[in-house]
Amino acid sequence: MSLQIIVGAQWGDEGKGRIVDWFAAGADFSARYNGGDNAGHTVTVGKRIFKLHLIPSGIIHPQVTAVLGNGMVLNPRALFDEMEKLHKLGISVAPERLRVSYAAHLITPAHHALDKALEAARGKDNIGTTGRGIGPAYTDKATRRGLRVADMLAPNFDERIGDHVAETNRTLNMLNASALDPAPVCAEYRGYAERLKPHIADTSIELDAAMRAGKIVLVEGAQGTLLDVDFGTYPFVTSSSTTAPGALTGLGLGLDAARDASVIGVVKAFQTRVGSGPFPTELSGDLALRLRGTGANPWDEYGTTTGRPRRVGWLDGVLLRYAVRINGISELTVTKLDILSGLESIKLCTAYRRDGKTLTDLPFGPADLSPYEPVYEELPGWSEDVSGVRQWADLPKAAQTYLERISRLAGVPICLVSVGPERNQVISREK
Ligand code: IMP
Repeated sequence: MSLQIIVGAQWGDEGKGRIVDWFAAGADFSARYNGGDNAGHTVTVGKRIFKLHLIPSGIIHPQVTAVLGNGMVLNPRALFDEMEKLHKLGISVAPERLRVSYAAHLITPAHHALDKALEAARGKDNIGTTGRGIGPAYTDKATRRGLRVADMLAPNFDERIGDHVAETNRTLNMLNASALDPAPVCAEYRGYAERLKPHIADTSIELDAAMRAGKIVLVEGAQGTLLDVDFGTYPFVTSSSTTAPGALTGLGLGLDAARDASVIGVVKAFQTRVGSGPFPTELSGDLALRLRGTGANPWDEYGTTTGRPRRVGWLDGVLLRYAVRINGISELTVTKLDILSGLESIKLCTAYRRDGKTLTDLPFGPADLSPYEPVYEELPGWSEDVSGVRQWADLPKAAQTYLERISRLAGVPICLVSVGPERNQVISREK
């Protein structure tokens, strides 16, 4: 397949970074199509831990060209910080390796201020955003007053930035939030424009040419299906199309690219969520602490971007089946199986119950999950540490049964299981 799309099947944080890293070993391009530095993808290679927010994780592989697509919203300050960090770790971020779409939108300090002011104004009904200015930048895009990367090449870029800050100040004033001085923002962004120039390209043309030449394009979704602006737990979602079809519009690929695509869904062996919104299988108490971890390990359930503790719960099979349908997932990778070792039994939500009826599909999507009660199946756990297992047959029988049950519920095969943070802690399943 020349187009491989990796998507999160839950609320983000499924461990997509390390799965992308696995597939990127065989890819020529690694592209992102949505979101911005609200994402956090972690890849562990020996003693080196790469925490990436904007740049696709595939860049760690020397043969890969990284692409930031038109569907993204870019904070140049975060981008240059990340480029510097990669450079220090010996990863080239030269213009020929890091391509930025002219049509991606820019995030500015005014968007950050507005994101925070809007959250404060929502009070207890806040969304729990990452505060990275994502929503306000996509709002500007939809209302057709956004700043695009291509604007950095225009002679009046300064003026446009000044107008944008002045315009945002009017809204900040209405929200009783402090206004920003446009001058330092203009100066800062002028500098970014100079530095970004050699990276700016029509990445749609470059990806199209690559695919026609038989190159493999690996596409990295950020966040997850249930945070999609159309198909997620609206309004507790992010502001972009996180699902696989969004990869086409977010990268400027036509439908013919999809003919030769595989969609790989990443699902954690249990369920997590950061921020507000519904979560039917959420756990509290000791079991929640056990699944979340204390925060002492890099893989414990605390946000990569914000450090917030994640909410945790049992795997929700109803929402997983929904994610398979919405994305067109052809195979699944299951992450963090090792975390479940030592539990006496594991619950899996296989359906919802409402008014005495059992449902396996949602009548109106997942926006309002409050009327449903999860129906659980309880499966035996396993005591063995699975972090050293590399073959499916060597997994404890109970772990195999749990995975088979997930696969049957989802209706698609499992191609990969991760059992630890290291690059090689993976079980690849022969088809
Ligand atoms: P925003 O994307 O910052 O506007 O945040 C909207 C919602 O999406 C909040 O609940 C965030 O916690 C959540 N969110 C955004 N990005 C991520 C991510 O990469 N992983 C998990 N949750 C995210």
